[in-house]
Amino acid sequence: MKSLFLLVLIAGLGWWKLIFPQEPTINASFKPGQIWADADGQHINAHGGGILYHKGKYYWFGEHKTAGKGGNRANVGVSCYSSTDLYNWQNEGIALPVAPENSGSEIEKGCVIERPKVVYNARTKKFVMWFHLELKGQGYNAARTAVAVSDSPTGPFTYLKSHRPNAGVWPQNFNAAWKTKTVTEKDLKAWSDEWKKEVAEGLFIRRDFEKGQMARDMTVYVDDNGKAYHLHAAEENLTLHISELTDDYLNFTGKWITVAPAGHNEAPAVCKYQGKYYLITSGCTGWDPNAARSFVSESMWGPWTPLGNPAVGQGAELTFESQSTFILPVAGKKDAFIFMADRWRPNNPIDGRYIWLPLSFENGKPVLRWQDEWKLNTFATAKK
Ligand code: GAL
Repeated sequence: MKSLFLLVLIAGLGWWKLIFPQEPTINASFKPGQIWADADGQHINAHGGGILYHKGKYYWFGEHKTAGKGGNRANVGVSCYSSTDLYNWQNEGIALPVAPENSGSEIEKGCVIERPKVVYNARTKKFVMWFHLELKGQGYNAARTAVAVSDSPTGPFTYLKSHRPNAGVWPQNFNAAWKTKTVTEKDLKAWSDEWKKEVAEGLFIRRDFEKGQMARDMTVYVDDNGKAYHLHAAEENLTLHISELTDDYLNFTGKWITVAPAGHNEAPAVCKYQGKYYLITSGCTGWDPNAARSFVSESMWGPWTPLGNPAVGQGAELTFESQSTFILPVAGKKDAFIFMADRWRPNNPIDGRYIWLPLSFENGKPVLRWQDEWKLNTFATAKK
């Protein structure tokens, strides 16, 4: 009788599966580089992402990619997923949709929207999304950063505007003598030592002074005191800029610095550990991975000291075939950080993979080690 009951149960379940093939996935660990199924059984589509923690929930925003060639363009918009445990994610839909084709909007379908980051402004009670924007049909030449705003974390976000930051303002750490230099790009051989020196002494800052500085790979960081900073690859990706945002997080105040001039850094990700700021970046090799870099500073205003590649062990020279996008502080745990990175698949962008690894600190340096599979209890010992 018992076995008959079991048989009926199994047959029943099989029948159920035929009608509902995508039952909720239950993930109980991180498996870097593997397909990451959301609650509907679909690979998460939130590349170049960042995470907001708000009222007990994590919200993962990222680039919605499509299949095949052209899939890196913004055909749909910015995705949002939510989770309470970081393993299992519910698709919340498109938080910022692209505008219709030929609408003339800066974010019309076919533009490039990369690395969206959302922060919450406690004063205005608004959710603010910043992202790298390239205008449709202009390749990567526009080099703009753009902002959108919403009353709810899942959107819909309202597009506000794009910026070339800090027009008409010199960085704080700029030598007065460099302001009046007259050397230009055509006087120099690209990548020569002299050219690199001139880049470090403001060659591109002067070139872009009136129209505003370039802004490509970016992130936004909100400090404990509520001050927000926009970090971006500028000057033809040669130098990172850190700019202060206004109190509503919607604009630039005009206070900014350069970091690692002529150092060729992209993909910035920041965290604060034991009162110091740590920055992880990549080199500039497009969709191909390279060795990550790291920096430390006592203040967002520098000076930023290079600490080398945080990745160690086999695969470290290509950062385990990934490129940084965000450092996530795990809620409720002290000094627990997750390094988030992308393993891009430029020929089929929708298949891009996520590399999440625990970020530890050893002898004052950030350290990343490969793990095929890991769980949040890895942080238990790190907890103080
Ligand atoms: C990468 C960058 C990506 C994307 C890509 C385009 O270096 O980090 O966000 O812009 O280049 O080639």
